[in-house]
Amino acid sequence: MQMIQARGLTRHFKVKKETVEAVRGIDIDVQEGELVAFLGPNGAGKSTSLRMLTTLLAPTSGSATVAGRDVLKDPAGVRRHLGYVGQGFGAGHGHRVRDEMVTQGRAYGMSRSDSQQRADYLLKALDLESLAKRAAGTLSGGQRRRLDVALGLVHRPEVLFLDEPSTGLDPQNRANLWEHILRMRKEHGTTIFMTTHYLDEADSMAERVLVIDHGLVIADDTPAHLKDNLAGDRITITIADSNCAAQAVEIAERITTPHEVKIDGANVSLRVNRGSALLPEFILALNVAGIKMLTAEVTRPTLDDVFLALTGRSLREENSASAA
Ligand SMILES: Nc1ncnc2c1ncn2[C@@H]1O[C@H](COP(=O)(O)OP(=O)(O)O)[C@@H](O)[C@H]1O
Ligand SMILES: [Mg+2]
Repeated sequence: MQMIQARGLTRHFKVKKETVEAVRGIDIDVQEGELVAFLGPNGAGKSTSLRMLTTLLAPTSGSATVAGRDVLKDPAGVRRHLGYVGQGFGAGHGHRVRDEMVTQGRAYGMSRSDSQQRADYLLKALDLESLAKRAAGTLSGGQRRRLDVALGLVHRPEVLFLDEPSTGLDPQNRANLWEHILRMRKEHGTTIFMTTHYLDEADSMAERVLVIDHGLVIADDTPAHLKDNLAGDRITITIADSNCAAQAVEIAERITTPHEVKIDGANVSLRVNRGSALLPEFILALNVAGIKMLTAEVTRPTLDDVFLALTGRSLREENSASAA
């Protein structure tokens, strides 16, 4: 079953006399049970898209369904079936952790006893049991984020939208949060659509990645396909005599078509498809030509290399610049 479907979704904002085209006609398809990451630089339109899919913001045009319900015609129905953890929740609350969860359940029309049972289950599942009676506002960043996820899950949604759930957490808390989210997902088959700043998270967890830039989806595939098709592996060799660098490149070009060639003194770096399979052949050909090599290495591309290949910009650099 199709859990999320969007067609031609757009959203404009009027700011003074200017129109900001935040989202410019995107199509999204997410199947039941999938974990899909939505990646893009700051201002690309990720949060705006999520807010339209979760009925918090009306689209300027286009249509979308979530869990088979139309976001425009049946927003209440959509909301019952989804959980949403927005970007930068975590504002202080005076209420106790468990009470906040029970209240959330009640707000979704669950009975008191069902809400309480569900709260107790989630407190345990998300490692919040010892904090049940603490005021939510006193939690640490990592604990607060786990509470946000618990709140998003109280009404047993089929699909969970997470907007940068791990931003601002240290690596240990990030890993811990994901461990909990992935376990809940495994146990309940929850569909997850998430945005993240951390490309390594998307790479290791998402079955599929949508890349959005300037309000348009510019890539939609598995992390492995994106890396193979758009970036390719990098072969780097160091040769004994830097005068032979150009000849080494010629030899490489006889056995493959590099996407990219860089010569830096005695270092020759090539972006190629199936680098590990190619390297032995390349080494042999260099040997035959009498070119002596000192080191040889193949590195797999990252999703940042993919983004660079797509846009000419580094997502990692943009994100760290904006986080600073
Ligand atoms: N309420 C708003 N009013 C005006 N402009 C907005 C509003 N919300 C978002 N934008 C603009 O829309 C664009 C996309 O924003 P957003 O969806 O938050 O991006 P992302 O989540 O990818 O960083 C940005 O240029 C942002 O400034
Ligand atoms: Mg955002």
